[in-house]
Amino acid sequence: MNPTPLLPISANISPQGCLSIGNHDLELLAKQYGTPLYLYDAATIRHQVETLRGLLKQAYPGECLVAYAAKAYFSEGFSRKLAALGLGVDVVSLGELELARRGGFSPGAIHLHGNNKSEAELSTALEIKAQAIVVDSLDELYFLETLAARHNQKARIWLRVTPTVQGHTHAHIDTSGGNSKFGLHIANGQGAAAIRYARASAWLDLVGLHTHLGSQLFEPGTYRQAIHQLYQLAQSENFQPQEFSPGGGWGVRYTAADPDDQYEVWVEAVCGTVIEECSRLGWPLPRLVLEPGRSLVGRAGVALYRVGAQKTTPSGLQIVAVDGGLADNPRHALYQARYTALAVRQPNPAGAAASPARLVGKFCESGDVLIPEVLLPPLERGDLIAVPVAGAYQLSMASNYNLAPRPAVLWLEEGGVELLQKREVPYETGWWMLPE
Ligand SMILES: Cc1ncc(COP(=O)(O)O)c(C=O)c1O
Repeated sequence: MNPTPLLPISANISPQGCLSIGNHDLELLAKQYGTPLYLYDAATIRHQVETLRGLLKQAYPGECLVAYAAKAYFSEGFSRKLAALGLGVDVVSLGELELARRGGFSPGAIHLHGNNKSEAELSTALEIKAQAIVVDSLDELYFLETLAARHNQKARIWLRVTPTVQGHTHAHIDTSGGNSKFGLHIANGQGAAAIRYARASAWLDLVGLHTHLGSQLFEPGTYRQAIHQLYQLAQSENFQPQEFSPGGGWGVRYTAADPDDQYEVWVEAVCGTVIEECSRLGWPLPRLVLEPGRSLVGRAGVALYRVGAQKTTPSGLQIVAVDGGLADNPRHALYQARYTALAVRQPNPAGAAASPARLVGKFCESGDVLIPEVLLPPLERGDLIAVPVAGAYQLSMASNYNLAPRPAVLWLEEGGVELLQKREVPYETGWWMLPE
C-alpha cells in the first residue's frame, strides 16, 4: 500500500516493511548510484499526462495541446521520455531548446518563452521554425521584427499578456501582479499596442495570445478572471486568436495540509471560460495550449538522502542532517516551500515512535533547511530519507554550492531502471563536471 498520496503512484511497502517505488529496492539504488539521488516514476508521469488529456478531451471540443514546461526539470534523457509521450514543450533558453530537439521534439512542438530572449535564442527559434515565439515586451517585438527581416522569414508569434489578477501564491512565483517583469501589461495599454503593431507588420505573424499567472495556483477563479481579461483585450482590438494559452501554474500538494490539486478543477475553469468567451463573441474556438510543468512531474519525483549527523539544540530542537539540501533543493530557502519526509526503512512509524525533527542539509548556510518540522522515527547514521514531490524546480535550480556534485537522476519503470543524468564527479581543478 502507498504510505501517502504525496508519493508516486507506484510507491509501496515491501515485504520487509521498507518503502519501494516501481517495485525497486531504494537501498540498492542508493548504494549503486550514491546519494542524494533523484528518482522519477514513469507510471506517475504517464498517469498525469493521460489524466490531463482525457479531461481536456471531455471539456473542450476544439484542438488541444499539452506542452511541458521544461524549466520544471529537463535533461536529454528526460526530454526523450516526454517527447515520446507526444507532448509539446515550452523552452526558455538555448540549452532547453537544444535538449528538446535532441530528445525528439519537432520544431512544431516547441514554444520559446522568456522575458529577455537573446538574439541567439530568437534567431535559433526563427531558423528551426519553432511553433511559436512568445513575445514578452514591445521592445522584443521590435527586435524580433528586425531579426525576422534579416532572416527573410516571417516570425510566428504569440503575445504574452499580463492581466491584473491576484495570484494567491508566494510573491516570487506570482507573475500576474501590476509590477510583474513578465509580459505585455493590459493595464498600461502595452497588450493592445503590441496586437496593433504585430498585425500591421510584414514580418510578424500574430497567431496567439498567452498568459502565465504564476505557479502553485489552486484557485480556478484566477484563471477565469485572466482569460476574461485577455478576451476583452482581443475584443477591443477585434483580434480573433487562432491559438490561446493560459500557461501552466496549477498547484501540487507537497504536504497533507495543501489544498486539493485535482486537474478537473483547472481544466473546467480554463476550458469553460474560453468556451464562454468565444460563444459570447461568436468566434471559433482557438487551439488551446496548456503548459504545465510542476503538476506533470512534481509528484513523480522523489529525492533520497542519507542521514548523517544528528543533534539536539539547547531549546530541545532535534536536528537531523542529510547529505544534500540547499544545493539540490533551494526551494525552502527561496520561498519557504513546505515538504514532508519519510524514513525508507520505516515509512509508517507507529504514533509514539515518531518525534518532530528539523531536516537540514549539509551546506554552509543557516537557511539550508529542507523541512523545519517533520515527524520522523528514531534514525541512525546511514538511514535513507525519502522526500516526496521532488520532481519540479529542484534539480533545475540546483547549484554546485560548496562544490557539491549534482546528483544522479533515475527513470524508474516496474522492472527497469534508466540513468537519466549521471552524478557529477570531481575534476582535477577542484570543479565538478560530468564523467566522460
Ligand atoms: C510561461 C510559463 N509557462 C508554464 C510554466 C510552468 O509553470 P508550472 O510549473 O507551475 O506549471 C511557467 C513557469 O514558470 C512559465 O513561465
